[in-house]
Amino acid sequence: MAEDGAVDNEWDADRYDDDHAFVYEASQDLIDLLDPEQGERIADLGCGTGHLTATIAEAVNAADRAGDSDGMAVGFDRSREMIAEARSTYPAVDFLRADARSLPFENSLDAVFSNAVLHWISDQEAAIWPIHDALRPGGRLVAELGGVGNVATITDALETELAARGYPAEHGWYFPSPGEYASLLESRGFEVRDLRLFDRPTPLDGEDGLANWIRGFGDDLLAPLSADARTAVVRAVEDRCRDALWTDGEWVADYRRLRVVAVRQDG
Ligand code: BEZ
Repeated sequence: MAEDGAVDNEWDADRYDDDHAFVYEASQDLIDLLDPEQGERIADLGCGTGHLTATIAEAVNAADRAGDSDGMAVGFDRSREMIAEARSTYPAVDFLRADARSLPFENSLDAVFSNAVLHWISDQEAAIWPIHDALRPGGRLVAELGGVGNVATITDALETELAARGYPAEHGWYFPSPGEYASLLESRGFEVRDLRLFDRPTPLDGEDGLANWIRGFGDDLLAPLSADARTAVVRAVEDRCRDALWTDGEWVADYRRLRVVAVRQDG
């Protein structure tokens, strides 16, 4: 965990797109929920390699070729590598390196969009308050994050194996229940319009899919271990998870998503 309350992670943008493409591919329908309109001003929090930001930019700037759209889509990510990759893939789209908790907008955005990012921030008030303040009254937050029980088979196995080797640790991700998340949003002046918790079993690519997931997303937890010990932990976690998550020749992670649409009230 970083000192500022976000879970640390060293991202490799190429590997992220190769190994974790499901993060954005599975969430194209979150864009449908956002329903971006021509002329809107929208921030994409934690845009990663920028694929969903580019889709949003196309919608808000749909009339640009005719010269009569003042739409704006900008992707934010705290990873330098992700922003560099996003800029090189989509040179016409705006991307800025910034933390989700320090948005450079005040009372002005039509929407804040966020996919699979908010669960990386342990201090949720620090995440939600700036989003509220960046939106105009009536503006909306459309977000998806891991919900209660998300990837519990994997995190339980990982925590058990780390503890067995003398490295007790708890994952620092924030996977709230719908009730908890609604209360949080309402306490900051949002009206919750839609809030859903659902299972989304998620195939991980190849025989090494689970190992790649653990090494890619759990590197903070594995950091204190030697390279050999990491390999041993990853193998032991695979063994623990096999009965529940190895299905028809592939790893299927026990994702549970929390999807929310919440609107900023006046004030
Ligand atoms: C998720 O998208 O649910 C997730 C991704 C990485 C680590 C933990 C959760």
